[in-house]
Parts: sequence; C-alpha cells; structure tokens
Amino acid sequence: MTDLKTSLSEAVGAAFAAEGVDKALARVTASDRPDLADFQSNGALAAAKALKANPRELAAKVAERLAADPRLASVEVAGPGFINLKLSNAALAQRAAEVAADETLAGASLSTPSRKVVIDYAGPNVAKPMHVGHLRSSIIGESLKRLFRFRGDTVWGDAHFGDWGFQMGLLITACGDENLAEAFMAEGDGPFPPDSPVTLEDLERLYPQAAAKAKEDPAFRDRARKATAELQGGRPGYRALWAHFVAVSRTALEREFGALDVTFDLWNGESDADPLMPEMLAHLKDTGLLVEDDGAQVVHVAREGETRKKKLADGSVIEAPSPPPLLVVSSEGSAMYGTTDLATILDRKKSIGPDLILYVVDERQAEHFEQVFRAAYLAGYAPEKSLEHLGFGTMNGADGKPFKTRAGGVLKLHDLITMATDKARERLHEAKLGDDLPEAEFEDIARKVAVAALKFADLSNNRTTSYVFDLDRFMSFEGKTGPYLLYQAVRVKSLLRKAADQGVAFAPIVVVEPAERDLALTLDAFDAATADAYDKRSPNLIAEHAYRLAQSFSKFYAACPILVAPDEATKGSRLALAAATLHQLETALRLLGIETPERM
Ligand code: ARG
Repeated sequence: MTDLKTSLSEAVGAAFAAEGVDKALARVTASDRPDLADFQSNGALAAAKALKANPRELAAKVAERLAADPRLASVEVAGPGFINLKLSNAALAQRAAEVAADETLAGASLSTPSRKVVIDYAGPNVAKPMHVGHLRSSIIGESLKRLFRFRGDTVWGDAHFGDWGFQMGLLITACGDENLAEAFMAEGDGPFPPDSPVTLEDLERLYPQAAAKAKEDPAFRDRARKATAELQGGRPGYRALWAHFVAVSRTALEREFGALDVTFDLWNGESDADPLMPEMLAHLKDTGLLVEDDGAQVVHVAREGETRKKKLADGSVIEAPSPPPLLVVSSEGSAMYGTTDLATILDRKKSIGPDLILYVVDERQAEHFEQVFRAAYLAGYAPEKSLEHLGFGTMNGADGKPFKTRAGGVLKLHDLITMATDKARERLHEAKLGDDLPEAEFEDIARKVAVAALKFADLSNNRTTSYVFDLDRFMSFEGKTGPYLLYQAVRVKSLLRKAADQGVAFAPIVVVEPAERDLALTLDAFDAATADAYDKRSPNLIAEHAYRLAQSFSKFYAACPILVAPDEATKGSRLALAAATLHQLETALRLLGIETPERM
C-alpha cells in the first residue's frame, strides 16, 4: 500500500520525465500553503535552470499532463513556477478507508528486503547503579526495536549485560573481606552452595564502597585485579559466586525495565563473548592485525593520513593515529571493553548473521565504537557499513549537568519510576481523572501515564540533542507531552464506546469539511513518518506524527460533531475516521513504547 504523497510523487515524476526532465527533480512535498493546496512540487524551478527553460512554462506543461489524474481536484501553477496539487475529496476518503482497514500497519508500509537486525541497548551493569545514559539507551533502543520489527525486519534486542569487567573482581574481593561468601572462596572445584550468599542490597552497598576503596588503596585494587583475572581464568568458586551476582542483578533489572515496558530478546552478557576470545586472538594474529605495542596488543584502525595532535607526558606534541589503536590485550594480559565488543560481533556473526547491528549508546562512547567497528571490518567479522553507533545526548538537570537525584547520587531507575508514578497520581487527581475507578485500574493508569511522560519527553527530542529533566512539564496533560497524547487516545476510546451504546453504525468514509481533509492527510502522512524514522533511526519523527495526529483530531472533533451529526451516514463516516485515528495513534504510541489505558 502506498501513501498518497508517494504515489503523487511518482505521477509528478512521470509528467516531468515526459517533458525531458530528470524525475529526481520532481519531489512532492506538503504544501507551504495548506489553504491553497495539499502538496506542491518545486521541480520546475530547478529543472528550468538546468534546461535553460522558462520555469513557469515548464510547470504549465507538467500541470497539463497531471490535470487528468483522477486523484487530483486541481493542479495550478503559482508564483515563479510552483505546481500546487489539491487532492480530490474522494481520493482522501479512499486513502482514509485504507488506513482504517489496515489492522497491522495503520497505513504504514514494510521496508524491503526484510533484514536481520540486532539492537544493542540499555547495557546495564551487574551491581553498578544505572545512570541517565542507560535510561535514554533503554527508551530509544526499545522504540527502535519496535520500529524495525514493525517495518518487517527480524530483530533481536540485546541488553548486552555488563557482567565481566573489573567490577566483578571488586565485588568478589569485597564479599571475601566481609566474610559474606566464605563457601565460595575455596580454591577447589566445589560443589558450591546453590543459593546466593548476596542480595541485591548487598551488591548495591558493596559496589560503591569497593570502587571507592580501590581508588585509595592500591593493595585492595591489586587483589581485585587478581580476582578479576582468576574469575576470567575460570576459578570455580569465583565463577559460582559471580553467577549469583549476575542472577540477582538480572532479576532486579528485569523488574525495573519491565516497569518501563522495556524488554529484551537476549540477555547476553559481556561474559558470553569470552569463550570466543582464543579463536579471535588467533585470527587477529594470523591476519597480522594484532600487533605488539608497548607490552600490550593492539589493532591499528586509523587509515593512512588519519592523525591528530597528541600531547605526550613530557609536554611534546606528536601526530598520533586517529582513531587510536584498539587495545585488545592489556599489558597485564586482560581483555578490555573493546575486546569484548569485538568478540561479541564475532559471536553475533556466528549465532545470527545480522545484516545490521545498531548500538544505542551514549555519544561519549563514539570513539570506542569507531575503533571496534573498524577492527571488525578489518577482521571480516561484519560486512562494511553494517555496524552503526547511534549516539545520544544527555538528560540534564536544571543545572545543565547530567541529571542526578536530589540526594546528589546517580539516578536509580527504580527511584525515577517511583517518582514519576507519584507525580502521575497527583496529576490524575488534580485533573479529576480516574478517581472513580477501582484502585488496581487507577494504579495501572498512573503507571502508564508515568511511562508515557518519561518516554515521550525523551523521544520527542532529536536523539542527538540533550534535554532538561522537568517532571512537571513532562507530566502535563497539555502541550506536547505523553500524558496529553494518552488523554486524547482515551477520549476517542470513550467516544467509540458511547457511539456503540447509542447504536451508531460505522459507514463508508466521506471527506468534505476542511478538518476532515486535514485529518485524512495526516493519516496519510504516517507512512512517510515511519519510513523516515526508520531510515534516520529517529523515533522523534514518530513522536512528531503522533502529536500532529492528536491535534488534527482535536480540530476535527471540534469542527465536525460525531454523535450529533445531521444524518446517519455522516455520523458513521466520522465515527470511522475517529476509529482510524485511534488505531493509528495507538500504533504510533506503541512504536514509542507507550501503552494506552482504556479509560481515565
Ligand atoms: N555497559 C556499558 C556501560 O555501562 C554500556 C554497554 C554498551 N554496549 C556495548 N556493546 N558496548 O557503559
């Protein structure tokens, strides 16, 4: 199914081509003057320049060719050679009917060919509390996962759990010092107790203490390093204890992500790439990619001439390769963050064979991914251009610095959700919404409003821009917010229920009034919005569309009464338009990871 904009583009392209103009110049865009036209093409201006022709004359010839198109009510040349296109009411009505009948895509289309896509997002770590970077990654990644799946790709959302670095050695050492896990400290093969000696609270308490201690106390740091190496080397007691850390953390994280409607298909950890390490190192060595550098082993990834100035310890400045080499094995013999990422690409190649891997990770890790991707291409682990880092800006506090809780600590996802849900309850009570509903339903609504507020606030910004955390604004039922959109959707639901009670029947869609035309045009624009959002990996284009749709519906509802329309055919047509709007609005919101309650 094609949207009107695309099919008109094709018709206009053909008309230009018939005049000897490259049809690429004949782009159709939404009209700058919606009072005069629905779409316009400025192609004649560019084409006339190339052909040294008169743009108005060329436009007139093209317009003449288009005049017979049954979808168009009028084709006019304006100004220096713009072509204004106005759709017929019948064409708009037919398109709205298509959207209404399209149960799965609500008027959008699939991307072809279907691809295998891995989306690496959230990236939480065992025991370490999550910060705003993880929150944004979860929200954006979840939305992209839904969008790519919606457009027909096979998608694996992977949490890429941080379960393998130095923090594991820190925790093991700290547990040992506190005699929390004595049974796991023996050097032998076990057996080790099946129950976890540590709780989530233990981990949350131990990690910051141990991290701080490692900074001040070199002996402690060395013991933690040694424990990390022994864990990675396979010491059975440490492995058994580590498995408990991972399980305890994962259970808690899944619960928190679940509260945000964020889920994963894979909970692969950094540790899952570990078994591939020997094979990878051998391959990198055999291909000559792995080279010795000051006791460490690295892969050079900068191309000829790619350098930047680097200041050395002695103050002198040299031209150093840029990006710097990827550190694969440190001088102490350990695998690094980049090593794990590279091995994970090999793992994904073997287990899935993805056409595309998207990494939704903080912009500050851009160089890390540039290094890893280049190394992966050099090693033949991924087809060129199949790895993309989708960076994003930060969520800031009012002070312009990354958002922290009032106590000054990093934000905990759990606290954020609680805070947002408290605010949602407050707002619902103020607005007298849901007061008379059963408690469990009210709670569900409050959670949905909270999630909508947080997610929409994030996703309505361009991914790369930073924004300020302002719960009051996010939670408002007015303006460009998640709660406003939920409220609009719920309003349509209640309208549909009322219509059903009154026995109003759906009827074929007829488009007459300007507000009906505008609504039909907006419904048509969903296809382009989802396609663009997909191509640019930009959920904000879907957020934009959802907001535009809600506003267009509001105007329609104000101008075109439904239940008290003059006749049954008009009632039924407008009711069908309302149902199509709801379907598309809920579809768009779902792509943002936002669920709509039935009532409020
Ligand atoms: N765990 C990492 C962090 O907390 C994020 C992981 C991102 N994904 C990746 N494949 N490196 O910074």
